[in-house]
Amino acid sequence: MKVVISLSGIFFEDATRIKQIAEVLEEIAKSYGLYIVTGGGKIARDRIKIARELGANETICDYIGIALTRVNAKLLISALRNAHPEPFSDYNEVAGAGAGLVEEARISVMGGVSPGYTTDAVAAILAEYINADLFIDVTSVDGVYDADPRRYPEAKKYDKLTAKELVALTAKEELKAGSRIVIDPVAAKIIERSRVKTIVIDGSNPRDILNAVQGKHHGTAINPDE
Ligand code: UTP
Repeated sequence: MKVVISLSGIFFEDATRIKQIAEVLEEIAKSYGLYIVTGGGKIARDRIKIARELGANETICDYIGIALTRVNAKLLISALRNAHPEPFSDYNEVAGAGAGLVEEARISVMGGVSPGYTTDAVAAILAEYINADLFIDVTSVDGVYDADPRRYPEAKKYDKLTAKELVALTAKEELKAGSRIVIDPVAAKIIERSRVKTIVIDGSNPRDILNAVQGKHHGTAINPDE
């Protein structure tokens, strides 16, 4: 079974957290082919803000974000024993390297790829490409809401959604560099067309990532449309 996990950049702000996540990932890799995509987090958003103030256009800002997602990929690799030493920067490379083989408990790690989307979309494209059995989006909120719960406390959480409903929910989101959305609209469209089983969970307790791989979670399940 192949699992793709998108890890929000928020989980790369201190060594203790990175170590805890790495331990859980190594446990998962004993039984599953594992592919990780790392987000950029606050440092990416801060640097994008500076670039925008300097007059950089959105593509340049996206490239700055991508660079920082790759820094986080490198941090995660530093904490893993069984990862490829360099983050992959291309989907073909990951698939071609035969990474994610359970026998060797190898873990493939990559950051951003190209402007116009976020690492959620990278992970969704990778999941489609390698025919993953499961895609887990690990964020700092406990699922998909009808509005940003950090700004609107009355926002309603969905326990499950169809891919079509997810596309409709995310379509109104702005796709600017560094924008804070739970799942980006490109990722939602890829999830819809690939029909990959997707779960959105909170990663504050890294053990919950392992639980989610085993089918136990309190997040949002996105099911292919009937
Ligand atoms: P993230 O994937 O970290 O954005 O990429 P996010 O999901 O909004 O943030 P966190 O990590 O979950 O908090 C950071 C930025 O890098 C650029 C985009 O500008 C994105 O907002 N990026 C990333 C790309 O342009 N292409 C990529 O493939 C990845």
